[in-house]
Amino acid sequence: MQTESLKEKYAPYFKIGAAISPRDIEASGALLKRHFNSITCDNAMKYGSLTRRPGEFFTAPADAVAAFAKENGMLLHGHTLVWHNQTPDFIFENTTPERLLETLRNHVQRVKEHFGELATFDAVNEAIEDKSDAYLRDTKWKEVLGEQYVSQVFRVIKEELPNTRLFYNDYSECRPEKREKIVRLLKEMLAEGAPVEGMGMQFHCALFQPEIDEIKRSIEAYAALGLPIRVSEFDVSLYRDNNEKQFPAPDPERLKQQADFYGQCFRVFREYYKEIDAVTFWGVADDTSWLNNFPVLGRKNWPLLFDDVHEPKEAFYRIMDF
Ligand code: GLA
Repeated sequence: MQTESLKEKYAPYFKIGAAISPRDIEASGALLKRHFNSITCDNAMKYGSLTRRPGEFFTAPADAVAAFAKENGMLLHGHTLVWHNQTPDFIFENTTPERLLETLRNHVQRVKEHFGELATFDAVNEAIEDKSDAYLRDTKWKEVLGEQYVSQVFRVIKEELPNTRLFYNDYSECRPEKREKIVRLLKEMLAEGAPVEGMGMQFHCALFQPEIDEIKRSIEAYAALGLPIRVSEFDVSLYRDNNEKQFPAPDPERLKQQADFYGQCFRVFREYYKEIDAVTFWGVADDTSWLNNFPVLGRKNWPLLFDDVHEPKEAFYRIMDF
């Protein structure tokens, strides 16, 4: 018999979040209300969701999520302002650095006018290149604004959102080589006085990946910069790689390993709770996870704490058991 909720159990440590769409409110409203106290729009607040063509500001899905968060006294975390994906192409056409910064400023102003000033926002998402031979990812933002663009956009965003804590957010953030590049970027920004105020560790994991020692080292490396951390997109794939065929049903041994891994990660999060603001999952329950279509289209996955019919899994009990 499950008595305590996740958010109650973790109240002394950090907030427990879920990144959701309006359909998750329909499908998993009760679970969300019971276990979570922080909400992120998984897609609805992205630039390209709000604005697909000049002048458009389409807020209905984000409004539904924001209203749900408000009604239930949950924190609403903003995601995301500057990214290479899901951003309208037209903003980069026939522009200049000055004009692009002005376009971003107008976008941020609209976001603020409409949603109010949120406590926290992912200002820049995924600016670091994965490949070894490059530092920053080649994006249209960089193409127009140049190598210093991350600091520049943080400054513009801060001018419009003075009361919002601005995060840098990225994936593979525990891989040593990428971590070093992220730390370099954050250090450069801090040295220039650019207003980066938090580090979002996406935490898209597979079984026992990343290794626990690397997770600790990474939390320590980001926290050493004086930045609070949000675990921002946690999930744990049951597959080892893209070539594995779909399991007809979740493999019991893998589910056990998943529970072990979730348990180990949360032990580390509790150990470093002073550095961590929130631990957010990318989704609520296995039935609607993005991993059911990524990286292999249509390959069913079971990466979260609640199963396809929204019952708690072994992983849930494991992170509650301490
Ligand atoms: C990245 C982004 C998120 C989301 C996930 C996958 O990690 O930061 O906004 O798109 O991929 O759903």
